[in-house]
Amino acid sequence: MKSIKLIATALISVFIGSCSSQKETPEAIIENKVDSLLNLMTLEEKLGQMNQLSPYNLEELAKRIRKGEVGSILNVVNPEEINKIQEVALNESRLGIPILVARDVIHGYKTIFPIPLGQAATFNPEIAEQGARVAAIEASSDGIRWTFAPMIDVSRDPRWGRIAESCGEDPYLSAVIGAAMVKGYQGESLNAPTAIAACAKHFVAYGAAEGGRDYNSTFIPERVLRNVYLPPFKAAVDAGCATFMTSFNDNDGVPSTANSFVLKDVLRKEWKYDGMVVTDWASALEMINHGFCTDEKDAAEKSVNAGVDMEMVSETFIKHLKQSITDKKVAMETIDNAVRNILRLKYRLGLFDNPYVVTPQSVKYAEKHLQTARTAVEQSAILLKNANQTLPLTDKVKTLAVIGPMADAPYEQMGTWVFDGEKAHTQTPLMAIKQMYGNQVKVIFEKGLEYSRDKNTKGISRAVNAARQADAVVVFVGEESILSGEAHSLANLNLQGAQSLLIKELSATGKPVITVVMAGRQLAITKEVEASNAVLYSFHPGTMGGPAIADILFGKVNPSGKTPVTFPRISGQVPIYYAQHNTGRPANPTEMLIDDIPVEAGQTSIGCRSFYLDAGNSPLFPFGYGLSYTTFEYSSLTLSSEKLTTQDSLSVSFTLKNTGHYDGTEVVQLYIQDKTGSVTRPVKELKRFQRITLKAGESKQVSLSIPVSELAFWGYDMKFEVEPGDFRLWVGTNSSEGLTKDFSVSAL
Ligand code: NOJ
Repeated sequence: MKSIKLIATALISVFIGSCSSQKETPEAIIENKVDSLLNLMTLEEKLGQMNQLSPYNLEELAKRIRKGEVGSILNVVNPEEINKIQEVALNESRLGIPILVARDVIHGYKTIFPIPLGQAATFNPEIAEQGARVAAIEASSDGIRWTFAPMIDVSRDPRWGRIAESCGEDPYLSAVIGAAMVKGYQGESLNAPTAIAACAKHFVAYGAAEGGRDYNSTFIPERVLRNVYLPPFKAAVDAGCATFMTSFNDNDGVPSTANSFVLKDVLRKEWKYDGMVVTDWASALEMINHGFCTDEKDAAEKSVNAGVDMEMVSETFIKHLKQSITDKKVAMETIDNAVRNILRLKYRLGLFDNPYVVTPQSVKYAEKHLQTARTAVEQSAILLKNANQTLPLTDKVKTLAVIGPMADAPYEQMGTWVFDGEKAHTQTPLMAIKQMYGNQVKVIFEKGLEYSRDKNTKGISRAVNAARQADAVVVFVGEESILSGEAHSLANLNLQGAQSLLIKELSATGKPVITVVMAGRQLAITKEVEASNAVLYSFHPGTMGGPAIADILFGKVNPSGKTPVTFPRISGQVPIYYAQHNTGRPANPTEMLIDDIPVEAGQTSIGCRSFYLDAGNSPLFPFGYGLSYTTFEYSSLTLSSEKLTTQDSLSVSFTLKNTGHYDGTEVVQLYIQDKTGSVTRPVKELKRFQRITLKAGESKQVSLSIPVSELAFWGYDMKFEVEPGDFRLWVGTNSSEGLTKDFSVSAL
């Protein structure tokens, strides 16, 4: 066996030697290596490279690796085991091709960062990049070189549990944060030992699952696909994302794993992508359930013919594609291209040169990593309400009642997708308040409810007693981690269990009530917001949630997070998102709602507009919303020109002033509306944002520039272009307020 491998290696070297004088670029050298290795491979070995397993038994795995039947594995995280697996692959398989080891490292490996939705709430690509870098350093120290992240499915429906894992409802925000995560995972160079390949998922439209029910079908026409769902994926390609994953859903009847339009026409031909495409877990096989494939062989053929390179776990490729080649259902060229994409990735990762993990010194939970995670929570928490400056807590608060099922729930605050996070390392708000502020306030802790779904109200009276003895109450509510994430959809977005009652009873004490929500999605918390004096929303914050939230409550940190999703008033308003189309009969802000409608009102007496009689049309909180302990004023908006051509760039400047008494950070946001198009356009689209930090009283001239070419969209003729005409622009503190100006664009 070894001798064949040595001959193979020698042949590769000779081949490279003969070509290297003409093509010297690292990429060209890799292409040569890929081609020479491919030339040595049997069809069985090629199909083996296309096979990814989640092994249950390492002995069995070793046998299959020896036979060349495995290209990648997921879910092995023990570095000694990974090194043994690589030894078998390198020394005991005929060609010695290393194994690519994957894992779902979604928002941290050991040091858990806020869930991706929370990272998006920072509106800070730098913190998202740093978070992914920390995750890559920790995961690669155990031998993991490929993560299935970022998830950049535009998500406009909080019933869908996977909204937690997304960057929210906006294509531009998802593109910016997703691209930053790609850079963070992959680092400066993919072949550095701490780089892990990123995976843009789920390609595509998975976030549009009908009714928010996970895995459900989607019905997204090509124009919406291109204008809304594809841009974050294009940004991932531009950021150098090494891999893509197909999604579980069928869109307009075509399962993504067999969708050659997106996988070949868009990804490969239009975007010139040369990375690797993997299926989602058994999504090839599931095409039988979809009613799209007759059997396993059909599923394998439809997947590879559509442009899939590697199959995750369901093994239809390795079992059937040999026969498919004989039957001429699949061309050898198709298999070769898939294997090329896989080998290219292995070379890019430097796996042939450095297949083993060598990290004697543990980098997990490094102090720097914990501090970065803490900063991420500080920037991600969103202050939704702060009546009469309830927050920050002042020294008048001598006794603080800390209440609620999420106050001291180290596992739950880590959120979804934490295979490797450990609750023993999580710092909860209760721990942090006691530790960091225990000499400033007396803390009385009463859970009130055991867990977020708890309907047993017997602990509430103890919580109320605690509140009565205190000067202020902080109640931590939300969702346990199991309630969001994959397969965890909800039909009802209210707070679970008796949490709402708990807040109501605490509020009835007359003490100031500060509600802190830790959840995996935006919940419909209209009543709870009314019943609270202040509300802080922290999407599951991870390991360092406690200290960051404590510092916000006590004013050491001024909150600056903004909603990356629109908050509905009630579940039935969903889907609700800011970039909606106007309709022919948009609602007026003053619509008469259900309780004001007279009995026996005439059928048309309340107008015929587009809104819900019982909920109106406006959200509880719009996209981009978030308060600060200080206030910001926007003024003097000017545009470089109000008459532009398609070739110009628009410069927008304005003055931002911190008009309050605290230093603070504002996320300034620039939205644009294309007033009339060849197809109807969203009422607003986010085009730029920036975090600006100002001292109390300080002002700053802010300039944002945007090339007119970025106003292009896919119009009636399915061309991507800027349509000349009239536009409106806003700069402001969220998607529903701001200074505004009009401008026009003409063709050259
Ligand atoms: C299924 C999920 O949809 C996907 O996001 C994940 O990466 C794979 N399972 C692997 O665990």
